[in-house]
Amino acid sequence: MEPFTDDIYIKTIDYIEFWVGNAKSFIKCFLQPLNYHPVAIRRTEKRVQFLLVNSPQLAYFKIIDGAHLESTCFIVTAATSELDTEFHNMRQAHNGDFIKSIAFNCTDVDLCFDRAVAGGAKPVQQPCSPFQSIRTATITSPFFDVDHVFIRRTLQLTQHQIHNPLMLFPDFVELSRTMPNTFSKTQMPSAPTTLSLDHVATCVKNGQLMECIKWYNQCLGFKLMEIIKDGDVPRDNDDQKLIESENYFNVSVGEDIGLRMAVISNQPASMVTFTLPSIMWVISEAAVGGKGQVEQFVKFNGGSGIQHLAFLTNDIFKAVDYARHNLMEFIEAPDYYYNNLSKREELKKVLSHMDMTVIDDLKTHKVLLDSENSSAPDAKESYILQIFTKPICDTPTFFFEVISRENALGFGKGNIKALFEAVEMSQHRELNEIREVPRE
Ligand SMILES: [Fe+2]
Repeated sequence: MEPFTDDIYIKTIDYIEFWVGNAKSFIKCFLQPLNYHPVAIRRTEKRVQFLLVNSPQLAYFKIIDGAHLESTCFIVTAATSELDTEFHNMRQAHNGDFIKSIAFNCTDVDLCFDRAVAGGAKPVQQPCSPFQSIRTATITSPFFDVDHVFIRRTLQLTQHQIHNPLMLFPDFVELSRTMPNTFSKTQMPSAPTTLSLDHVATCVKNGQLMECIKWYNQCLGFKLMEIIKDGDVPRDNDDQKLIESENYFNVSVGEDIGLRMAVISNQPASMVTFTLPSIMWVISEAAVGGKGQVEQFVKFNGGSGIQHLAFLTNDIFKAVDYARHNLMEFIEAPDYYYNNLSKREELKKVLSHMDMTVIDDLKTHKVLLDSENSSAPDAKESYILQIFTKPICDTPTFFFEVISRENALGFGKGNIKALFEAVEMSQHRELNEIREVPRE
């Protein structure tokens, strides 16, 4: 079997497909606030699908090598018939909307498919060419009901067609215009200039972390994320040994809230040039008998799955303003989190160099700060800012994250503990305040 090499590999995440109860509502509530807009539609006998890209201006896009966009697209699918039992049963099993498939742009569909099946993946759709110059195949992933699609396009496009992302999805029909925004332009902050996919975060049951890493290594060629620092020579980590502090983290918060987190990717990250891999895949494993967010996700999702998608922006405050004005709901860190920031040892360096207006912006926007995994030589300029939305359903399942990176490759390990403690502390205070109210 051909191994994954420099010539045969997974390049990018091409599109991600949601299965939802109401496609129009889902798009307006969750994807438009993140500056993703519907541009095309596809109707079948029992389903409707919308295609979304991260700007309403199609001319903004450029198709690279006749194959893919620089940014990930979204497909939002809903059933339009009660007879679509496959769709309804799956949504019910997941207690609501969920990610059904993640499609990877690859260099050779047939070889990637064969390699994945030999590695243990189950075939769903054998390699085929639904359109000229488009080759695709589908396998199951290790996550409950989630498929992985391989796609390779070799389109010959004119200069005009290069700027039309619809050329990549020939079975979709262009929408006459994007859904109108309900806010007037004077009320609306301007849209963030960039908001692209940063990482995919998944949750597995206790004891399945290593198995999941092994699956992605054998089936897709992903490896534990390696960070190349100045002078480093990339090492061959084929043995995929989990080394604590290097490629997995134990986040211990109380006895039953902890989790174990590892990150895999399709290529190494570089601190020298600060280049992120095009795919960063976070896997969190619940603690033994845990009652934390990972365990809750697995319980309500009906099994392991995609817990959140993080979008990278170069201006998190602008992105959050825009999303909030579009009625996106975020988890709001209590004041205790910000008052306690300077007590977090590893942040002292960052905070002491930070402009006071940025710290004020953090508080007003309820954005979180973390310097975890900031291996730049000048640590004062090395941190991440992040914020999480509330779950999109009524159960603690899927949500979104918005993240910005200042020379840091972390994922917010420090915030899991800090946010938990801050919420606990404010609830404790509120309880005391209630107790202190004198009885009539
Ligand atoms: Fe994340």
